[in-house]
Order: sequence, then C-alpha cells, then structure tokens
Amino acid sequence: MSTDRKTIIAGNWKMHKTHEEAAELASAVVKGVEGKSDLPEVVLCPPFTALAAVVDATRGSSVKVGAQNMDYRNEGAFTGEISPVMLSKMGVTHVILGHSERRQFFGETNSTVNLKLKAALEHGLVPIVCVGESLDERESGLTDSVVRRQVAAALEDLTEADIETLVIAYEPVWAIGTGKTCEATEANRVAESIRSTVNDFFATEAGSKSKIGETIPILYGGSVKASNVDEQLELPHIDGSLVGGASLSAPDFLPIIEGGSRRVKLTPSAS
Ligand code: 13P
Repeated sequence: MSTDRKTIIAGNWKMHKTHEEAAELASAVVKGVEGKSDLPEVVLCPPFTALAAVVDATRGSSVKVGAQNMDYRNEGAFTGEISPVMLSKMGVTHVILGHSERRQFFGETNSTVNLKLKAALEHGLVPIVCVGESLDERESGLTDSVVRRQVAAALEDLTEADIETLVIAYEPVWAIGTGKTCEATEANRVAESIRSTVNDFFATEAGSKSKIGETIPILYGGSVKASNVDEQLELPHIDGSLVGGASLSAPDFLPIIEGGSRRVKLTPSAS
C-alpha cells in the first residue's frame, strides 16, 4: 500500500437505537478505543434523534459523529427536514449523503446529492457520498457506468479545492444487509475506477490531468464484518469501511475498528 490517505471506519446505524441505546453503544465504542494507538478515524452515524446523545457520549474522545442525511437548505418551511447548520452547530462533523436506501425509498437523486454535497462542504461537514449499483445493473454489466455517473453528478459545479475533505463510499446495493459481500478485489477495482472518474472530472479541456482522486478516502460498504474487513483493507484502493449491521453492537464493531488499526499500522501516515 502506498498511500497516506486516512483510514476511516464508520458505523451507519440506520433506523436503529433510541437515544438511550445510542448513548450506551457510543460509550462502549469510546471505551473500546480509549488509549489505543494506530486508531483509524472512527465515525458513528446514529439517527437524528440520537445525535445529541452520541455527541455527548463521545465528547473529549477521538470518536466523531455523523448524520445519515440532511437537507441542503439552511432553514425554511421544509417540514421534517434537518439542515446542515443544525448539524454543525451541535457538534456533528460528518454526514452520509446519497445512501442507496435514500435513493431507493426517499427520492434522493444524483442532483439532490450534488446540492447536499455543496451544502455540507460549505458548512464544514465531512461528506461521505455513497455510490453503488443495483443487482440488475451489475448483472447487465452497468456497474462502472452507473458508479461513474453517480460520482460525476455529485461533483457537478465543484472545484478540486472544494473537495479536500470529501469521502466516497462504494456500496453495491446488492451487498447491503444481504450477507453477500462484494469480492474484495472487485470492490478494489471499482474504487480505483472511482478515483479515475474523479481525476477525469477535473481534467481540463486543455489536457492537464488531475490527481485529486488519489487523495480521496474511498470506503467499502456492504456486509462488512470482522471476518472480512482485513481482505478489503489490505487492498490499495480501499481506505476504510462503512458498516451497517455490524456497527450496532460494540463486540461486533470494535474488531472492525481493529482491522482499521491494522491498516493504519501498515501505512503509518494514514491516520
Ligand atoms: P450492512 O453492513 O448491514 O450490509 O449495511 C451497509 C450499509 O448500508 C452501510 O451504509
């Protein structure tokens, strides 16, 4: 591995945990990483109702807190929505954008992901933009074109300087919550293709090339567990994990964080 990209282990708790349960789990994660060296960046993404409790439980620790979604506007008559200002003011540092469940069930589109990405960057939130193909798309040989389109659409109107903090998660939809992990070498291949998509996006018409894609942490998500995290993280283009089910208990999640630590040890600057 020849990278100084950050290693990131993020837990997407989806619609699980009351605020009390969330505080308890966050405290167990904080306790589990306390005093450890070579830690990856650990990000906990509870539901909106538990964000305050998890911000409290992680205060003073290295564990970061992310939201699972947000609106792109600062305020207004948008019943049920949460703004980037509200998140950043409460100590939330990260936000997941364009998760496939939002695309599938809640009308998220490539263009709303783009608006949200711009808003997150403007408000200093670290965006974790999710991309990935459905089973149908994979079986029709459309994986690369779908992922390329999602990445390029997310970046619309942005400059290289804007995306310094951007994180991308490759989450093949068919691997989410199914126990079917994408083969690590295939996930690595798609991650590499995401990097070249970003480079191509910022290449100029005058022919100058971009290398910004090499600096973006790319996470893999989809049935990540302690038993498969190492095979993913030892590949050169996978810089971390976005974990669903296995992030819902400390005994499942802490060993995945340890997998992240093993990658940090291999690439000492990647912490
Ligand atoms: P699982 O780890 O449960 O497959 O979920 C992955 C995911 O969607 C994380 O965002």
